[in-house]
Amino acid sequence: MGRLRIMVCGAGFFGRKWLEVIRARPDCEIAGIVSRTPARLDEARRELGLDGVAGYASLDEAVARAHADAVVVALPQMLHRETIVRALRAGWHVLTEKPLAMTMDEARAILDASCARRDRVVMVNQNFRWRPHTLAFARGVREGLIGRPAHLMLECRQQIRRTTVEAWRERMVEPYLLDFSIHHFDLLRYLTGDEPHEVVAMSFRPSWSWFAGNSAAAAIVTMASGLVVSYTGMMVAQGLETPQEGLITLTGELGTLHLDGASCVSLLGQGEPRPIPGEPVPESDLGRGLAQFVDAIRTGRQPETHLGDNVRSFALLIAAVESARARRAVRVDDLLPDLARRERP
Ligand SMILES: NC(=O)c1ccc[n+]([C@@H]2O[C@H](COP(=O)([O-])OP(=O)(O)OC[C@H]3O[C@@H](n4cnc5c(N)ncnc54)[C@H](OP(=O)(O)O)[C@@H]3O)[C@@H](O)[C@H]2O)c1
Repeated sequence: MGRLRIMVCGAGFFGRKWLEVIRARPDCEIAGIVSRTPARLDEARRELGLDGVAGYASLDEAVARAHADAVVVALPQMLHRETIVRALRAGWHVLTEKPLAMTMDEARAILDASCARRDRVVMVNQNFRWRPHTLAFARGVREGLIGRPAHLMLECRQQIRRTTVEAWRERMVEPYLLDFSIHHFDLLRYLTGDEPHEVVAMSFRPSWSWFAGNSAAAAIVTMASGLVVSYTGMMVAQGLETPQEGLITLTGELGTLHLDGASCVSLLGQGEPRPIPGEPVPESDLGRGLAQFVDAIRTGRQPETHLGDNVRSFALLIAAVESARARRAVRVDDLLPDLARRERP
């Protein structure tokens, strides 16, 4: 099989990250870049030394004129549904940025489009899974280092100053929940191997926030096994910032696993604290995600964060948004009544 030709939608902050990662793989090539803005396209090309790479003003133009096998969607999430559905109709495999979409209805539309093209891979980038410390943490749980877990605490404090094109994130109603928290909601499932059952959440806007909407949130999530998660996060922290994944403490019957502010994992409660070494990821987290995407296309195996898996993390996110809005507990399964029918084998 020849090189995989990948179109990149978006020439902003993360579109450029993906362009770098695709360029680094000898079995992939950049089929083109979709951007409405010639100056941004030129800047991206110049910055990355991609002079010969074609630019397209819209996805429709790219579909009509380019030869591509796949697309990376690095556009604001308000545009994910229409972009993914259009790309699938064109017969392209899809690797989309998080979060999958903005609402459960949009997620269902994407699932329907994916069911109509079962031969195409649809994967969501959840790159926090593929970092040395999160891989080590998950392996520790899987190998039973702490036995059955009962409580997980995740606290994340970031100061996010980077602006977005046309201030799409700065203007969102729920920028924390609908842009950042999906990383953590997905990590909860990944690290515990458990599924979310119910969530009670609230979101709020600290008085000094530079975002128009709610830039902080807190939630209690009950997982199917009964494990309880206490979650808190903000993107306007003033001091005492945590790494992006947050500080994570998982307590089980045999001990506690802790991810600290230096991104180191330790096992506690069994004598002296024992460091759990990180797993090397020389290709970077995005490189690992791209490798899974390419492998899925070449072999027909589902990638770890395929659409059918990711929609469960996404449903927890939407349940949290709904809980914060309605000020009541929301059951995650209630948002997924017809998932089985739509899920790909
Ligand atoms: N996985 C991660 O760790 C991570 C980190 C950051 C971002 N992301 C995700 O990546 C996606 C893109 O984020 P970003 O930070 O790259 O955003 P960004 O820097 O603002 O870039 C957005 C890109 O989308 C294009 N675009 C097309 N229509 C647009 C519209 N109506 N409003 C705004 N921009 C529009 C932009 O403009 P032009 O068409 O004019 O070029 C630009 O090329 C989001 O889904 C975000 O959640 C993921």
